[in-house]
Amino acid sequence: MRLAVAGVGNNISALVQGIGFYRQLDDEEELPGIAHPVLGGLRVTDIDVVAAFDVSETKAGRPLSEAIFAAPNNYPVLGAPQMTEDPEVLPGIADPDDEQQLTSVTKILRELDVEVLLYSLPTGLPEVARAYGRAAIAAGVAVVNCTPDPVAGLPDLQAEARAQGVPLVGDDLQSHLGSSIVHGALLALLEERGLTLSGSYQVNMGGNADFANLRKHGANKEASKHRALRQKVSRTDRVTVIPSAGFVSHLGDRKVAHLSIEARGWADMPVKLDVTLQVQDSSNAAGVIIDLIRIAAIARRRGETGFPVAATTLLKSPALVEDPLRQGDHALELLAVLAAENAD
Ligand code: NAD
Ligand code: NA
Repeated sequence: MRLAVAGVGNNISALVQGIGFYRQLDDEEELPGIAHPVLGGLRVTDIDVVAAFDVSETKAGRPLSEAIFAAPNNYPVLGAPQMTEDPEVLPGIADPDDEQQLTSVTKILRELDVEVLLYSLPTGLPEVARAYGRAAIAAGVAVVNCTPDPVAGLPDLQAEARAQGVPLVGDDLQSHLGSSIVHGALLALLEERGLTLSGSYQVNMGGNADFANLRKHGANKEASKHRALRQKVSRTDRVTVIPSAGFVSHLGDRKVAHLSIEARGWADMPVKLDVTLQVQDSSNAAGVIIDLIRIAAIARRRGETGFPVAATTLLKSPALVEDPLRQGDHALELLAVLAAENAD
Protein backbone atom coordinates (compact mmCIF):
# COMPACT_ATOMS: atom_id res chain seq x y z
CA MET A 1 0.00 0.00 0.00
CA ARG A 2 1.48 3.30 -1.09
CA LEU A 3 1.37 5.85 1.74
CA ALA A 4 2.33 9.54 1.88
CA VAL A 5 2.85 11.27 5.21
CA ALA A 6 2.41 14.97 6.02
CA GLY A 7 4.45 15.82 9.13
CA VAL A 8 7.46 13.64 9.99
CA GLY A 9 7.07 13.79 13.77
CA ASN A 10 7.09 11.16 16.50
CA ASN A 11 3.99 9.41 15.10
CA ILE A 12 5.76 8.79 11.80
CA SER A 13 8.96 7.69 13.55
CA ALA A 14 6.87 5.17 15.51
CA LEU A 15 5.01 4.04 12.38
CA VAL A 16 8.06 3.63 10.12
CA GLN A 17 10.26 2.00 12.78
CA GLY A 18 7.36 -0.17 13.92
CA ILE A 19 6.68 -1.52 10.43
CA GLY A 20 10.40 -2.34 10.26
CA PHE A 21 10.20 -4.07 13.65
CA TYR A 22 7.35 -6.32 12.45
CA ARG A 23 9.17 -7.05 9.17
CA GLN A 24 12.03 -8.55 11.18
CA LEU A 25 9.80 -11.04 12.99
CA ASP A 26 9.32 -14.59 11.74
CA ASP A 27 6.05 -15.35 9.96
CA GLU A 28 5.03 -17.73 12.73
CA GLU A 29 5.76 -15.31 15.57
CA GLU A 30 2.90 -13.59 17.32
CA LEU A 31 2.81 -9.85 16.50
CA PRO A 32 2.92 -8.04 19.85
CA GLY A 33 0.66 -4.99 20.10
CA ILE A 34 -1.24 -5.57 16.86
CA ALA A 35 -5.06 -5.52 16.90
CA HIS A 36 -5.43 -6.76 13.32
CA PRO A 37 -2.49 -8.63 11.72
CA VAL A 38 -4.45 -8.47 8.45
CA LEU A 39 -7.12 -5.92 7.62
CA GLY A 40 -8.99 -6.02 4.32
CA GLY A 41 -6.27 -8.36 3.04
CA LEU A 42 -3.44 -5.93 3.93
CA ARG A 43 -0.72 -6.99 6.35
CA VAL A 44 0.96 -4.56 8.74
CA THR A 45 4.16 -5.04 6.72
CA ASP A 46 2.46 -4.26 3.39
CA ILE A 47 2.77 -0.50 3.93
CA ASP A 48 5.41 1.54 2.07
CA VAL A 49 5.93 5.23 2.77
CA VAL A 50 6.61 6.60 -0.72
CA ALA A 51 6.33 10.35 -0.05
CA ALA A 52 6.87 12.56 2.99
CA PHE A 53 6.31 16.26 3.68
CA ASP A 54 7.70 18.38 6.52
CA VAL A 55 8.54 22.09 6.74
CA SER A 56 11.06 21.76 9.57
CA GLU A 57 14.68 22.72 8.79
CA THR A 58 15.87 19.61 10.58
CA LYS A 59 13.79 17.31 8.33
CA ALA A 60 13.06 18.80 4.87
CA GLY A 61 15.63 17.79 2.25
CA ARG A 62 16.78 14.71 4.16
CA PRO A 63 15.89 11.09 3.49
CA LEU A 64 12.94 9.87 5.55
CA SER A 65 15.19 7.28 7.25
CA GLU A 66 17.18 10.17 8.81
CA ALA A 67 14.37 12.70 9.26
CA ILE A 68 12.46 10.41 11.62
CA PHE A 69 15.37 10.72 14.09
CA ALA A 70 15.80 14.52 13.75
CA ALA A 71 15.05 16.85 16.69
CA PRO A 72 12.67 17.43 18.31
CA ASN A 73 11.53 13.84 17.59
CA ASN A 74 12.24 11.70 20.66
CA TYR A 75 10.53 8.38 19.99
CA PRO A 76 12.99 5.61 20.97
CA VAL A 77 15.44 4.38 18.32
CA LEU A 78 14.62 0.75 17.55
CA GLY A 79 17.62 0.16 15.26
CA ALA A 80 18.10 0.75 11.56
CA PRO A 81 14.70 1.24 9.93
CA GLN A 82 13.78 -1.55 7.48
CA MET A 83 12.33 0.40 4.57
CA THR A 84 11.65 -0.63 0.98
CA GLU A 85 11.69 3.01 -0.15
CA ASP A 86 13.45 6.01 1.38
CA PRO A 87 11.89 9.17 -0.08
CA GLU A 88 13.43 12.61 0.42
CA VAL A 89 11.29 14.72 2.78
CA LEU A 90 9.76 17.59 0.78
CA PRO A 91 8.49 20.90 2.21
CA GLY A 92 4.85 20.32 1.22
CA ILE A 93 2.36 23.02 2.27
CA ALA A 94 3.81 25.71 4.56
CA ASP A 95 1.32 28.44 3.57
CA PRO A 96 -2.26 27.20 3.11
CA ASP A 97 -3.13 30.31 1.05
CA ASP A 98 -0.48 29.51 -1.54
CA GLU A 99 -2.40 27.53 -4.19
CA GLN A 100 0.90 26.64 -5.92
CA GLN A 101 2.00 24.66 -2.88
CA LEU A 102 -1.31 22.74 -2.92
CA THR A 103 -1.01 22.04 -6.64
CA SER A 104 2.54 20.80 -6.21
CA VAL A 105 1.51 18.37 -3.42
CA THR A 106 -1.38 17.13 -5.61
CA LYS A 107 1.06 16.56 -8.49
CA ILE A 108 3.52 14.61 -6.32
CA LEU A 109 0.75 12.41 -4.88
CA ARG A 110 -0.49 11.63 -8.41
CA GLU A 111 2.94 10.98 -9.90
CA LEU A 112 3.85 8.58 -7.09
CA ASP A 113 0.55 6.66 -7.26
CA VAL A 114 -0.13 7.40 -3.61
CA GLU A 115 -3.25 5.73 -2.21
CA VAL A 116 -3.48 7.38 1.22
CA LEU A 117 -2.19 10.65 2.70
CA LEU A 118 -1.68 10.50 6.47
CA TYR A 119 -2.03 13.98 8.00
CA SER A 120 0.06 14.12 11.20
CA LEU A 121 0.97 17.77 11.82
CA PRO A 122 0.92 19.65 15.14
CA THR A 123 -2.59 20.34 16.42
CA GLY A 124 -3.88 23.88 15.96
CA LEU A 125 -3.30 24.42 12.22
CA PRO A 126 -6.86 24.06 10.88
CA GLU A 127 -6.18 25.95 7.63
CA VAL A 128 -3.15 23.78 6.89
CA ALA A 129 -5.17 20.63 7.65
CA ARG A 130 -7.83 21.76 5.23
CA ALA A 131 -5.22 22.57 2.56
CA TYR A 132 -3.58 19.11 2.73
CA GLY A 133 -7.08 17.60 2.60
CA ARG A 134 -7.94 19.57 -0.54
CA ALA A 135 -4.61 18.69 -2.20
CA ALA A 136 -5.15 14.98 -1.56
CA ILE A 137 -8.78 14.98 -2.71
CA ALA A 138 -7.74 16.71 -5.94
CA ALA A 139 -5.24 13.89 -6.50
CA GLY A 140 -7.90 11.22 -5.83
CA VAL A 141 -6.01 10.17 -2.69
CA ALA A 142 -7.72 9.08 0.56
CA VAL A 143 -6.95 11.10 3.70
CA VAL A 144 -6.43 9.97 7.29
CA ASN A 145 -6.38 12.84 9.79
CA CYS A 146 -4.61 12.12 13.11
CA THR A 147 -5.40 15.53 14.57
CA PRO A 148 -8.42 17.23 16.15
CA ASP A 149 -8.28 19.99 13.50
CA PRO A 150 -11.28 19.12 11.34
CA VAL A 151 -10.86 17.49 7.93
CA ALA A 152 -13.36 14.62 7.74
CA GLY A 153 -15.68 16.75 9.90
CA LEU A 154 -15.85 19.52 7.27
CA PRO A 155 -19.07 19.03 5.26
CA ASP A 156 -17.73 20.80 2.16
CA LEU A 157 -14.57 18.62 2.10
CA GLN A 158 -16.71 15.46 2.54
CA ALA A 159 -18.85 16.60 -0.43
CA GLU A 160 -15.70 17.26 -2.50
CA ALA A 161 -14.29 13.85 -1.50
CA ARG A 162 -17.50 12.10 -2.56
CA ALA A 163 -17.47 13.91 -5.89
CA GLN A 164 -13.84 12.78 -6.44
CA GLY A 165 -14.57 9.26 -5.21
CA VAL A 166 -12.15 9.26 -2.24
CA PRO A 167 -12.59 8.32 1.44
CA LEU A 168 -11.92 10.86 4.20
CA VAL A 169 -11.01 9.29 7.56
CA GLY A 170 -11.04 11.42 10.74
CA ASP A 171 -10.90 13.25 12.94
CA ASP A 172 -8.39 12.84 15.79
CA LEU A 173 -7.16 9.32 16.28
CA GLN A 174 -8.25 7.46 19.39
CA SER A 175 -4.98 6.22 20.92
CA HIS A 176 -4.52 2.45 21.23
CA LEU A 177 -4.83 2.41 25.05
CA GLY A 178 -4.89 6.12 25.88
CA SER A 179 -6.46 8.10 28.68
CA SER A 180 -9.70 8.70 26.74
CA ILE A 181 -10.50 5.04 26.05
CA VAL A 182 -9.53 3.88 29.58
CA HIS A 183 -11.42 6.74 31.24
CA GLY A 184 -14.47 6.17 29.03
CA ALA A 185 -14.49 2.42 29.75
CA LEU A 186 -14.35 2.99 33.53
CA LEU A 187 -17.08 5.65 33.45
CA ALA A 188 -19.23 3.31 31.33
CA LEU A 189 -18.70 0.56 33.91
CA LEU A 190 -19.99 2.82 36.68
CA GLU A 191 -22.99 3.75 34.56
CA GLU A 192 -23.67 0.08 33.77
CA ARG A 193 -23.45 -0.87 37.46
CA GLY A 194 -25.74 2.00 38.45
CA LEU A 195 -23.41 3.99 40.69
CA THR A 196 -23.86 7.76 40.80
CA LEU A 197 -20.90 9.75 39.55
CA SER A 198 -19.92 12.57 41.92
CA GLY A 199 -17.04 13.85 39.83
CA SER A 200 -14.07 12.70 37.80
CA TYR A 201 -10.94 14.12 36.27
CA GLN A 202 -8.18 13.16 33.88
CA VAL A 203 -4.81 14.94 33.81
CA ASN A 204 -2.09 14.18 31.30
CA MET A 205 1.65 14.87 31.38
CA GLY A 206 4.33 14.29 28.76
CA GLY A 207 7.61 15.49 27.31
CA ASN A 208 7.35 15.44 23.51
CA ALA A 209 6.72 18.12 20.85
CA ASP A 210 3.03 17.23 20.57
CA PHE A 211 2.66 17.74 24.28
CA ALA A 212 4.47 21.09 24.30
CA ASN A 213 2.23 22.23 21.44
CA LEU A 214 -0.98 21.08 23.13
CA ARG A 215 -0.22 23.33 26.07
CA LYS A 216 -0.79 26.25 23.65
CA HIS A 217 -3.52 24.73 21.47
CA GLY A 218 -5.48 22.61 23.94
CA ALA A 219 -9.01 23.86 23.15
CA ASN A 220 -9.73 21.58 20.17
CA LYS A 221 -8.09 18.68 21.96
CA GLU A 222 -10.20 19.11 25.10
CA ALA A 223 -13.44 19.21 23.09
CA SER A 224 -12.32 16.15 21.11
CA LYS A 225 -11.51 14.23 24.32
CA HIS A 226 -15.01 14.97 25.62
CA ARG A 227 -16.47 13.66 22.33
CA ALA A 228 -14.38 10.51 22.81
CA LEU A 229 -15.87 9.99 26.29
CA ARG A 230 -19.36 10.49 24.90
CA GLN A 231 -18.82 7.47 22.66
CA LYS A 232 -18.90 5.49 25.92
CA VAL A 233 -21.20 7.40 28.31
CA SER A 234 -24.26 9.58 27.88
CA ARG A 235 -23.09 12.60 29.90
CA THR A 236 -19.71 14.12 30.77
CA ASP A 237 -20.78 17.25 32.66
CA ARG A 238 -19.16 15.98 35.88
CA VAL A 239 -15.93 15.07 34.11
CA THR A 240 -12.96 17.44 33.85
CA VAL A 241 -10.35 16.74 31.18
CA ILE A 242 -6.96 18.44 31.31
CA PRO A 243 -5.21 17.35 28.08
CA SER A 244 -1.85 18.86 28.99
CA ALA A 245 -1.25 19.47 32.68
CA GLY A 246 2.50 19.93 32.47
CA PHE A 247 5.51 19.47 30.19
CA VAL A 248 7.92 17.05 31.87
CA SER A 249 10.99 16.86 29.69
CA HIS A 250 12.49 13.64 31.10
CA LEU A 251 9.32 11.76 30.09
CA GLY A 252 10.26 12.30 26.43
CA ASP A 253 7.67 10.56 24.22
CA ARG A 254 6.15 8.81 27.25
CA LYS A 255 2.86 10.01 28.63
CA VAL A 256 1.47 9.72 32.13
CA ALA A 257 -2.22 10.14 32.85
CA HIS A 258 -3.86 10.24 36.26
CA LEU A 259 -7.55 9.36 36.29
CA SER A 260 -9.73 9.88 39.33
CA ILE A 261 -13.34 8.81 39.67
CA GLU A 262 -15.52 9.51 42.69
CA ALA A 263 -18.98 8.03 42.92
CA ARG A 264 -21.72 7.15 45.37
CA GLY A 265 -23.21 3.71 45.93
CA TRP A 266 -25.89 2.27 48.18
CA ALA A 267 -26.97 4.65 50.98
CA ASP A 268 -24.86 7.41 49.42
CA MET A 269 -21.60 5.73 50.51
CA PRO A 270 -18.49 6.83 48.60
CA VAL A 271 -16.48 4.84 46.06
CA LYS A 272 -13.16 6.13 44.79
CA LEU A 273 -11.04 4.88 41.94
CA ASP A 274 -7.54 6.18 41.04
CA VAL A 275 -5.67 4.95 37.99
CA THR A 276 -2.24 5.84 36.65
CA LEU A 277 -1.66 5.06 33.00
CA GLN A 278 1.85 5.18 31.53
CA VAL A 279 2.31 4.71 27.80
CA GLN A 280 4.72 5.32 24.92
CA ASP A 281 2.69 8.15 23.42
CA SER A 282 3.53 7.69 19.75
CA SER A 283 3.34 3.88 19.82
CA ASN A 284 -0.13 4.53 21.14
CA ALA A 285 -0.78 6.55 17.95
CA ALA A 286 0.95 4.22 15.46
CA GLY A 287 -0.91 1.15 16.79
CA VAL A 288 -4.13 2.77 15.56
CA ILE A 289 -2.75 4.60 12.51
CA ILE A 290 -1.84 1.18 11.08
CA ASP A 291 -5.57 0.29 11.05
CA LEU A 292 -6.84 3.69 9.90
CA ILE A 293 -4.55 3.79 6.84
CA ARG A 294 -5.51 0.24 5.84
CA ILE A 295 -9.23 1.05 6.23
CA ALA A 296 -8.70 4.15 4.05
CA ALA A 297 -6.77 2.24 1.38
CA ILE A 298 -9.27 -0.62 1.22
CA ALA A 299 -12.23 1.78 1.01
CA ARG A 300 -10.53 3.62 -1.85
CA ARG A 301 -9.63 0.40 -3.70
CA ARG A 302 -13.28 -0.70 -3.40
CA GLY A 303 -14.59 2.60 -4.72
CA GLU A 304 -16.17 3.65 -1.41
CA THR A 305 -16.25 7.38 -0.76
CA GLY A 306 -16.82 9.67 2.21
CA PHE A 307 -16.34 8.46 5.79
CA PRO A 308 -15.77 4.69 6.25
CA VAL A 309 -17.89 3.70 9.28
CA ALA A 310 -15.37 0.93 10.16
CA ALA A 311 -13.03 3.68 11.44
CA THR A 312 -15.47 5.02 14.05
CA THR A 313 -14.08 3.43 17.23
CA LEU A 314 -10.51 4.30 16.18
CA LEU A 315 -11.25 8.04 16.25
CA LYS A 316 -12.04 10.52 19.00
CA SER A 317 -14.19 12.70 16.74
CA PRO A 318 -15.49 10.41 13.99
CA ALA A 319 -17.44 12.02 11.16
CA LEU A 320 -20.82 10.76 12.27
CA VAL A 321 -23.35 8.94 10.18
CA GLU A 322 -25.61 7.59 12.95
CA ASP A 323 -25.63 8.22 16.70
CA PRO A 324 -22.23 7.57 18.35
CA LEU A 325 -23.09 4.47 20.41
CA ARG A 326 -24.91 2.62 17.57
CA GLN A 327 -22.33 3.60 14.99
CA GLY A 328 -19.61 2.26 17.31
CA ASP A 329 -21.25 -1.17 17.49
CA HIS A 330 -21.72 -1.25 13.72
CA ALA A 331 -18.08 -0.22 13.24
CA LEU A 332 -16.80 -3.14 15.35
CA GLU A 333 -18.79 -5.57 13.18
CA LEU A 334 -17.34 -4.05 10.01
CA LEU A 335 -13.81 -4.26 11.47
CA ALA A 336 -14.31 -7.94 12.30
CA VAL A 337 -15.36 -8.64 8.69
CA LEU A 338 -12.29 -6.82 7.34
CA ALA A 339 -10.02 -8.65 9.81
CA ALA A 340 -11.36 -12.03 8.64
CA GLU A 341 -10.23 -11.45 5.05
CA ASN A 342 -7.03 -13.27 4.13
CA ALA A 343 -3.90 -11.57 2.86
CA ASP A 344 -3.12 -12.19 -0.84
P1 NAD B 1 5.02 15.99 16.26
O1 NAD B 1 4.95 17.38 16.80
O2 NAD B 1 6.11 15.09 16.75
O3 NAD B 1 5.11 16.04 14.65
C1 NAD B 1 4.50 17.00 13.84
C2 NAD B 1 5.39 17.23 12.59
O4 NAD B 1 4.69 18.07 11.66
C3 NAD B 1 6.72 17.91 12.92
O5 NAD B 1 7.78 17.19 12.33
C4 NAD B 1 6.58 19.28 12.26
O6 NAD B 1 7.81 19.80 11.79
C5 NAD B 1 5.67 18.94 11.09
N1 NAD B 1 5.02 20.10 10.47
C6 NAD B 1 4.64 21.28 11.02
N2 NAD B 1 4.06 22.07 10.09
C7 NAD B 1 4.08 21.38 8.91
C8 NAD B 1 3.61 21.66 7.59
N3 NAD B 1 3.00 22.82 7.29
N4 NAD B 1 3.78 20.70 6.63
C9 NAD B 1 4.40 19.51 6.93
N5 NAD B 1 4.85 19.21 8.17
C10 NAD B 1 4.69 20.13 9.15
O7 NAD B 1 3.60 15.33 16.56
P2 NAD B 1 3.21 13.75 16.62
O8 NAD B 1 3.50 13.24 17.98
O9 NAD B 1 3.79 13.06 15.45
O10 NAD B 1 1.62 13.88 16.49
C11 NAD B 1 1.03 14.32 15.28
C12 NAD B 1 -0.41 14.74 15.50
O11 NAD B 1 -1.17 13.62 15.97
C13 NAD B 1 -0.56 15.84 16.56
O12 NAD B 1 -1.47 16.82 16.08
C14 NAD B 1 -1.15 15.10 17.73
O13 NAD B 1 -1.92 15.94 18.57
C15 NAD B 1 -1.99 14.05 17.05
N6 NAD B 1 -2.34 12.92 17.94
C16 NAD B 1 -1.35 12.18 18.54
C17 NAD B 1 -1.68 11.13 19.38
C18 NAD B 1 -0.59 10.33 20.04
O14 NAD B 1 0.57 10.55 19.79
N7 NAD B 1 -0.94 9.35 20.90
C19 NAD B 1 -3.02 10.81 19.60
C20 NAD B 1 -4.01 11.56 18.97
C21 NAD B 1 -3.64 12.61 18.12
NA1 NA C 1 2.69 11.35 19.00
